[in-house]
Amino acid sequence: MSKDILSITDSRTGKSYELDVTDGNIRAKDLRQIKVNDDEFGMMSYDPSFENTASCKSSVTFIDGDKGILRYRGYPIEQLAEKSTQLEVSKLLIDGELPNKVDLDKWISDVKEFNSVPKEIENIITSFPKNSHPMGVLISAIAALGTFYPNSKEISDEEENYKNICRLMAQVPILAAYFYRHSQGLPIVPPDNSMSYSENFLNMLFQGDEKKLNPVLVDAMDTLLILHADHEQNCSASVMRNTGSSEPDPYSAVASATAALYGPLHGGANEAVLEMLTNEIKTVDNIPEFLEKVQKKEALLMGFGHRVYKSYDPRAKYIKKAADSVFEITGTNPLLDIALELESIALSEDYFIQRNLYPNVDFYSGLIYQSMGIPTPMFTVLFTIGRTPGWLAQWKEFLNDKDQKIARPRQIYTGYDSRDYVELSSR
Ligand code: ACO
Repeated sequence: MSKDILSITDSRTGKSYELDVTDGNIRAKDLRQIKVNDDEFGMMSYDPSFENTASCKSSVTFIDGDKGILRYRGYPIEQLAEKSTQLEVSKLLIDGELPNKVDLDKWISDVKEFNSVPKEIENIITSFPKNSHPMGVLISAIAALGTFYPNSKEISDEEENYKNICRLMAQVPILAAYFYRHSQGLPIVPPDNSMSYSENFLNMLFQGDEKKLNPVLVDAMDTLLILHADHEQNCSASVMRNTGSSEPDPYSAVASATAALYGPLHGGANEAVLEMLTNEIKTVDNIPEFLEKVQKKEALLMGFGHRVYKSYDPRAKYIKKAADSVFEITGTNPLLDIALELESIALSEDYFIQRNLYPNVDFYSGLIYQSMGIPTPMFTVLFTIGRTPGWLAQWKEFLNDKDQKIARPRQIYTGYDSRDYVELSSR
């Protein structure tokens, strides 16, 4: 670990300060000593939306946004997507190492052991209106699940945490599948422990429809889950950590992270891309007009842009490749031509070039989901299933980090000074 000094001179007072630089960064709290008067609070850094603030040290996921590199625990995403499985990647993310055969088998069987959702939860899920948004249902169902396991609040008990991690891994897909079946007016398909994680999930959605359970589609689903498994301190992972920091049970924290993922600027973008292609752009001919609207800031090109990637999102690159194998089975998605043309025109226009806007993970994923027969409102649900192990890995790392306390940002107050209450009759 390198240790250097940052010297700061405050032009307001002429005073100089020396701040420790560790691994190229200063501690924001060290700025507090910089003040004009002793009775001041001291200097803070103003960073709305945390564009330049590291809130933790993490060894889970590495991203180099300029070079388009993504690694889980040091392993390149491309290798994991090619060679691994979602359950193996989950173990890697949560525990830090690729498991050996014995540990992997134990993990898979431990997750399967929790493959049983309480009947009351099934009743809650099936009491939602069939046309509810599945993300609203999933957020509620995950939070409700926690109420059945009061010991899950014992977050300093590692054995308890392990059980709840296994249960969340096993049951988030089940909750999702149960609501899908309910929304379609179909009977619920219980989990089948003889199947792999992704096969079981697709079977719970589509049992009896052999075309949709083709092994190529099962593999593609697993790959998509791996590609979505973690992405360091994004909006939902930060919510997972922030909620976790007040020490509730992990179900509540995962429910809050799921809510953060739901929005169209984050995980909800996959659904928004499909809506944009289907309802707004509709045909290749309409692309120039739509992009003009985007450049006038009247619309966003959904599935483009990223806070961290300033080059091609490596997940999008991989998904584009994976799409071919899916389309070989399902036939091509007619929206693919629009998406490819949209990407090609956008990448040649100054607006996008100057702002380093490239397709992100959500630009092509929806096309694959749609071809697999998954309805558009379920897309972000699939993202949630994929991301659950990442949230759990971030949560576990947070719990073991002695530097962490309850999350509590500061503000710069811009409101009134003290003023007296005015009676209603005088306002
Ligand atoms: N379409 C049009 N313009 C865009 C887009 C876009 N998709 N994304 C960014 N820009 C523009 C901004 O308007 C801004 O322009 P300006 O410099 O003229 O003001 C510039 O590019 C920089 O963008 P920021 O808003 O500063 O980027 P930020 O890091 O805050 O936002 C975000 C990232 C939210 C992903 C944004 O790119 C966006 O809204 N994209 C569309 C939604 C989307 O695809 N989200 C999924 C992200 S991946 C994920 O979460 C899984």
